[in-house]
Amino acid sequence: MSSSKTSHFLPLPPLSLRTPPPPYRRPTIISTYSHQPDRSIRHDDSSMAYYRPAPIGCDLNHGFDRRTERNESVDEHLDGLCDALRKVEEESGKGERKGGIITWRGMITRIMTAPYEDREGWEMTAIALDGSVYVELHDPPDVRAKRRKQQSTWAWQTYMGYSFESFSTQFLVPEQENEDWPTGWGGDVNTNVQWCNVVRSAIGDIPLCLGGEVDCVRAEPGTPHPGLEKCVELKTNRVIENEKQEFIFHKKLLKHWAQSWLLGIPEIEVGFRDDSGILRNQRAFETEKIPRFIASVPSAHPPWTPGPCLHFLHAVLNLVLTHILPTDPCLRYPPDSIRRGEQSPLPPATMWRFSFIPRRGCELYE
Ligand code: A3P
Ligand code: MG
Ligand code: MG
Repeated sequence: MSSSKTSHFLPLPPLSLRTPPPPYRRPTIISTYSHQPDRSIRHDDSSMAYYRPAPIGCDLNHGFDRRTERNESVDEHLDGLCDALRKVEEESGKGERKGGIITWRGMITRIMTAPYEDREGWEMTAIALDGSVYVELHDPPDVRAKRRKQQSTWAWQTYMGYSFESFSTQFLVPEQENEDWPTGWGGDVNTNVQWCNVVRSAIGDIPLCLGGEVDCVRAEPGTPHPGLEKCVELKTNRVIENEKQEFIFHKKLLKHWAQSWLLGIPEIEVGFRDDSGILRNQRAFETEKIPRFIASVPSAHPPWTPGPCLHFLHAVLNLVLTHILPTDPCLRYPPDSIRRGEQSPLPPATMWRFSFIPRRGCELYE
């Protein structure tokens, strides 16, 4: 427990909970933008990649020594997302963000999958500003250093995830092809490059504005953004050879499902590789059918169901909004004249934190 003056505790729901969860509204796109190879941002779809199946037998170790990795010591906060929203508001002349949660899709994935997370806790910062609550990871240097150390032991597996992306995609403007490029290689890995989609959605009565990376689209190279319904998420997994490995994969499908469901990505393409990094097979999953697929797996207890996840997500966000947003509706949804500074100014932003303690629940504190 924190030593702060005010705190509220929300226990995890029972995993046996079967009451209907709050609905998740189908996401719609507000905006897109593209991180370039040098990490700068362009407000266009220049980093959108087109899907084409990776060749079975390709070597996911390819290009490891030529990779460029994003500098993760730079904390970008919510900058890209806020930039995109500012631009939308300038162009449309209306506020996009009133009255809800604004964050990265990855934050909502963490909150949503927490009921089934036994090991990794987390802490997030929530800032109320201009009628909305901005949520980001609270990532102190010591926590970040520890995570990066852990990640470095997985560097090779991580690389194979990106390499599968390269073998599964092509860009409109291909990189200069090199003679030693193997068949299907889409270009050397540069993790600065990302294509982000900003969507509006809601969980129950709580509005959400989420930004997240989309791996690629299923469309003819050269076509403009074909809509969320053509977006594809790419994943890798070790080939499954026994029941235990199958069970672990089914557990992992919770995170894959949540990540894609939240942004409205309908398809997840999983590449299965062997221990030496050779792609052995691949399989497409329809995001919306994954919970039914998991429920249909013969087992005494399914590894997860979406109900507790959606209940917990709604409960956490409701807790955050209830305690952080001003209760006066005028302050919660300030009229445009106040927003423009023509009337008395808004109260200063307030900041709270909330943390997740595995197997227990969520604590919110000032
Ligand atoms: P896999 O997806 O095959 O695991 P994403 O799947 O979200 O598009 O991310 C692409 C790749 O980045 C992942 O490949 C994985 O290698 C790496 N990655 C993503 N999130 C990560 C995390 N939290 N820790 C370590 N690696 C991660
Ligand atoms: Mg990705
Ligand atoms: Mg991916």
